[in-house]
Formats: sequence, structure tokens, C-alpha cells
Amino acid sequence: MNKKVFITRKIGEVAEKMLRENNFDVNIWPKDRAMSQREIIKNLKKENYDAVLSLLTDKIDAKIFDASPATKIFANYAAGYDNIDIAEAKKRNIIITNTPGVSGIAVAEHTFALMLALTTRLVEGDTFMRRGKYRGWAPMNFVGTDFAGKTIGLVGVGNIGSQVARMAHNGFGAKIIYTDVHPNREVEEKYGAKKCDNLETLLREADIVSLHVPLLDSTHHLINETRLQMMKPTAFLINTSRGPVIDEKALVRALQNKIIRGAALDVFEFEPALSPSLAKLPNVILTPHIASARESVRAEMVRLSAQSIIDFFAGKTPANKVN
Ligand code: GLV
Repeated sequence: MNKKVFITRKIGEVAEKMLRENNFDVNIWPKDRAMSQREIIKNLKKENYDAVLSLLTDKIDAKIFDASPATKIFANYAAGYDNIDIAEAKKRNIIITNTPGVSGIAVAEHTFALMLALTTRLVEGDTFMRRGKYRGWAPMNFVGTDFAGKTIGLVGVGNIGSQVARMAHNGFGAKIIYTDVHPNREVEEKYGAKKCDNLETLLREADIVSLHVPLLDSTHHLINETRLQMMKPTAFLINTSRGPVIDEKALVRALQNKIIRGAALDVFEFEPALSPSLAKLPNVILTPHIASARESVRAEMVRLSAQSIIDFFAGKTPANKVN
């Protein structure tokens, strides 16, 4: 009998094609929006699904595992897997996979776009033009901040942080400092990055702080009110990792009170909701969790997640197993 796979949102025909060619029966949630947990449970209860291809917007925990006892593998279409209760999955011998290593350059490029947009005040200028306010060149119109000569503080230098280091060093000759649970000799040797003894030192020294850590208990609210106070009043904060790494309400207060100069966020603590007043601040740039949104990256994420399911049922250990 064919194995059954449930895909929690349309992610392109390739996943379905790959799975059908390998004799899986595939059902896909037809609506173009994230499923609520209740909807996932209701749908999983309809069939004995052997596998689920899930998205980062799906909360996968004991309730889901209880509703779908036949499911052996959840292939998460994302590099991050903080949406899944990994410990609970492990307890039940359920395999979890992700799609790592394919979005590093895209996310690093987006990080750079945000850094430069902040220092050049590009979005403020664009808004001004669209509102018909431009009355001609003026010496003090949207005066920005130099990027050259700045110190970039990378919190986390895994796949994405290392790419940011490469671009910062090769493209801008920036000074790079970093923190990470493991020293990264490659970024040190190739890009002159210096490891800080602790996060506090990095926050005090960096002109631009960019976050590249996974969301874990230890990184939840890593950037809180106290740590924001440690940053330079001229510093910028960039987050393309996961929203809850920053205490967003504390960030709003810090931006309102000019504790730091500005921030650019691609991810949000209460996604898709924004903290009150965040979108009203002129010194913040917001993008809708699109740092990895490139055709090539999405195609590879589809391929990797479908392949994990195919490999697992062919008796192989999926290459991107996380538990
Ligand atoms: C995107 O945020 C991902 O984790 O792939």
C-alpha cells in the first residue's frame, strides 16, 4: 500500500511530483494561508498519514503527535525548526528534518540590504518621494551614516552569519566581531573576525549588531532592555533570525527613546502581529519574513523536504535529520 503524505500548504508542484513518482499518496491543504493547529489536527485525523511536510508557521507538538499516531516523520520546510517540539518528537521516535544550508547567501544578502537601507535612510527617502514631499536637493536631506569603517557585530556565525562576514569583509572592508558558542576559525582567518568574550562586549563595541542565532530557550529575549542599553546610541540592530530573540516591546521603547539609532527586522516576536507602535517608528525598517524568499532557495527547500520523506521510507537516514 502507498504511504500517505500530508503537505500543510502549497509549496510548488515539485514536492508533489517527487513524492508521487516515489509511490506516495499526497494530500495538500488547498488554501493559501497558514493552517491553525486545530485545522492541522482535524486534517491529520482524516487519514493515517505516514509523513507530514510541515512549514515554519505550523506549531507541531504533542497535540499534533497525538492526533496522528501513524506519522513517523515531519519534514519541516525551513532551516529553523523552533516550531517543532523536538524533545517530544524524540521521546516518541518521530523523525524531524529541516532544509539547512540553502538559504545562507540569500539571508546574508537580505541582511546587507537592511543594513545599507538603514545607514542610507533609503526607505525614509522613498516614503518621502512617494508622498510628493520632494522640493529639490537640500544639503541636509536625509543625511545618513557612513558604512565604511564601521564595526559589525555578528551574534552567531553559522552558515548565515559567516556569509554576512564574507560580504562585510570582502565588499566593505568592515571590522567584524562575533559571538558564538563555538569559535569559528574560518571567519577569523578569512575575514579577520574577532571573537568577543561575551555578548555584552560585542554590544558595547559594534556599530551594527546582526542576529544569526537559532531560537532556543537560551536565545529567547537574548536582546532585552538591559542589553539594548549596552549598545551605542548610534548603533543599528538587524534581525533576520527569529523574532523572539528580541524582546520586541523593549526594542520599541529603545527606539522611541533613542537608546539606539535604528533597527531593521525581517522577523517578529508575535508574527504575523507587530508590537504596538513598531510600525509607526521612522527609525525602523520592516520586511515580511522574506530574507530567504528567492526562487532558487524555495526550489531547493521543496526538493530537500520531499527527499527527506522519500529517503526515510527507503530505509535511509535522511541527510537533514535534526533529532
Ligand atoms: C526561514 O526563516 C527558515 O528557517 O528557513
